[in-house]
Amino acid sequence: MEQSIGIGLLGAGTVGSALIARLVGESEAIAAKTGLTFDVRKIGVNRLERERDFAITEGLLTDDPFEVVNDPTVDLVVEVMGGKEPAGDLILAALQAGKPVISANKELIASRGPELIAAAERAGVPFLFEAAVGGGIPIIRPLSETLAGERLDRVLGIVNGTTNYILTEMASEGSTYEAALEQATALGYAETDPTADISGADAAAKAAILASLAFGTWVGVDDVYVEGIEAITSVDMTFAAEFGFVIKLIAVCERSESGVSARVHPAMIPLDHPLASIRGATNAVYLEGPTIESLLFSGPGAGGGPTATAVLGDVIDAARETLAGAQVAPRIRFSPTELVPFTDVATRWYVRLQVDDQPGVLAQIASGFGDAGVSIRSVWQEGVDDEAALIVVTHSAAESAQRSALASLRAIDEVIEVASVIRVLEHES
Ligand SMILES: NC(=O)c1ccc[n+]([C@@H]2O[C@H](COP(=O)([O-])OP(=O)(O)OC[C@H]3O[C@@H](n4cnc5c(N)ncnc54)[C@H](OP(=O)(O)O)[C@@H]3O)[C@@H](O)[C@H]2O)c1
Repeated sequence: MEQSIGIGLLGAGTVGSALIARLVGESEAIAAKTGLTFDVRKIGVNRLERERDFAITEGLLTDDPFEVVNDPTVDLVVEVMGGKEPAGDLILAALQAGKPVISANKELIASRGPELIAAAERAGVPFLFEAAVGGGIPIIRPLSETLAGERLDRVLGIVNGTTNYILTEMASEGSTYEAALEQATALGYAETDPTADISGADAAAKAAILASLAFGTWVGVDDVYVEGIEAITSVDMTFAAEFGFVIKLIAVCERSESGVSARVHPAMIPLDHPLASIRGATNAVYLEGPTIESLLFSGPGAGGGPTATAVLGDVIDAARETLAGAQVAPRIRFSPTELVPFTDVATRWYVRLQVDDQPGVLAQIASGFGDAGVSIRSVWQEGVDDEAALIVVTHSAAESAQRSALASLRAIDEVIEVASVIRVLEHES
């Protein structure tokens, strides 16, 4: 028997309007497959006067989003407005009123996740957020349900399409960072203000969510070390290719005996790693665990259509659970685990230096690393006139040791410039 569920939408922008198009245009197919019909009963927006690409009936739109949450005909709330506030208070109000909530809001979840999940648990209703990481890629449900029994060791992610597009253009077309960013903006992959993408902040919110779900302990966005792609040059792209790597902005979430850590930074990825082939705006998440060994999820990480698919899946799931009438058990529980400070996290480094081509420079550089307890894996040098480009790739060492080595290198008179430092991803092939 078909049952109609009243939907309240907070936001009707890129994702919200794509969701409305699906709920309206594909209602028969959805009903045939799920036995459910949905009816969008109230939509909260910022600008009532804005032109919309869906039919607006009397009273459908409001610029008071609490009207959506409080509407008695709204059974289920979908938050696709973004930002921390008022989205956070609206979600809490909906949950407190016993309404299931679906959200795509990584920024909010990465900062107030436990509070929202606890509110849903108290209310006994679902709070689902499949679209918050990886857009159309199903990854939240696999992490929190399908793989709940796997003790995952590491989660790697290319979780920002804008930066992956820029770095792919730089690697494959030899574009400068500036030209690639301009191209990304022209094609609509980058926002007018791309700061959240290129600084790594967007990926950091997603890394926080991935780490929290993978390891069952809360990792907030402020616990994630983050570096963006602004300093990546075409010179390093060329060297990376020569040495068998490609540079990607990567989220790395790890569990070790000392605890868990999460970070986002550009990294040299070996060309034989599955993430090396993730090109353009595509996103991917790569999981490593003792019995699954490795799993790769990849696909469209953003865009109205793919993101609406993820939201719609959650809407159908929440509606089924609610109609079943049972008190919904929480899908995620967090228990405290030690967070490893980034200074203790061990990584391999690629360091490119510009030096005076004098006898003894290499020895001084080698002792700079050695004195800090960092061992060198390979060195490459090319001289031009009386200067030389020197590239050192280290073995894995704690961030604090690597930084201490870097400080000693900077103090060497013959070191003209430390031109770049890029971490190298560990990969057993
Ligand atoms: N776009 C993607 O590809 C994508 C992918 C994954 C996740 N997400 C997440 O999905 C959410 C929505 O993204 P989007 O791209 O659809 O955003 P968007 O296009 O900017 O749309 C935001 C919508 O929310 C409304 N809104 C914003 N602030 C409001 C307020 N204070 N009160 C009432 N309405 C308000 C806006 O109203 P007006 O229409 O009147 O301006 C607009 O309809 C974000 O959390 C984002 O991170 C997006």
